[in-house]
Amino acid sequence: MEVRLQKAIADSGLASRRRAEMLIAEGRVTVNGQVVREQGTKIDVEKDHVKVDGRHLKPAPPQVFIMLNKPKGYVSSLSDPEGRPTITDLLGGVSVRVFPVGRLDYDSEGLMLLTNQGALAQTLLHPRYHVPKTYLIKVKGMLDDKQIAELERGVELEDGLTKPAVVKKIRKAEENSWLEVTIHEGRNHQVKRMLDYVRHPVIKLTRVRFGPLSLGSLSPGQFRHLTDREANALRSVVTDRIKDVATGAEPGSTAAKTRRRRAGAQGWARAKKGRKA
Ligand code: URA
Repeated sequence: MEVRLQKAIADSGLASRRRAEMLIAEGRVTVNGQVVREQGTKIDVEKDHVKVDGRHLKPAPPQVFIMLNKPKGYVSSLSDPEGRPTITDLLGGVSVRVFPVGRLDYDSEGLMLLTNQGALAQTLLHPRYHVPKTYLIKVKGMLDDKQIAELERGVELEDGLTKPAVVKKIRKAEENSWLEVTIHEGRNHQVKRMLDYVRHPVIKLTRVRFGPLSLGSLSPGQFRHLTDREANALRSVVTDRIKDVATGAEPGSTAAKTRRRRAGAQGWARAKKGRKA
């Protein structure tokens, strides 16, 4: 895979991207024995031999992203002091050490993301970045429009007011009904507590979406590696949300997207002007 030289140096953990650019400018980097001073030189991390100050650059470990459909009756962590079944029992054949991004209750099911990318996982989970999580839930009885509006505005739980949510009615069964709830934070038992607040307890809960990822037809207990397209979508969400916070816009909002687009267009125009000069 071809990447820019400064990215390959930064990805190896040797230096930040900026520091890597300095190392290149100072002539301390060689590619296949030749000093390279040009920023942006493309290299193939698997084929080219890169040295910094004469020392071989170790390639970055591969980035691993796994989607698991956790069944109920499994703890969503890698081990359990009480000896209950855990998601580790479901990950046979995965040799890279991966960590779950967030939790699902013992009796909940659905999409769990696992990765060896700690910083990315932290951004996906931090409430500041508003990454959405969608749950398909079965509840006792049926909510009226006022209760749905209340959940969407935010309800006062013992650990504070919940952030705005999106609640859609899916279908009604005899005594129960199905809803789709999207939240942008991840407090303990949050969806269950929100539904308890409006006195319609959750009977069944499945996480069906996490940021740009959808559970699709993955069966309970099964896992798969993300496709390149899914992994890239995840990386883009993370970089976009970080940019949104930096520009002071509400992450993921329409205003944030507009600001990002404008900033991108200005950057491109500046680059074009620079090339002409
Ligand atoms: N909210 C809950 O109440 N439980 C889960 O497992 C996930 C979200």
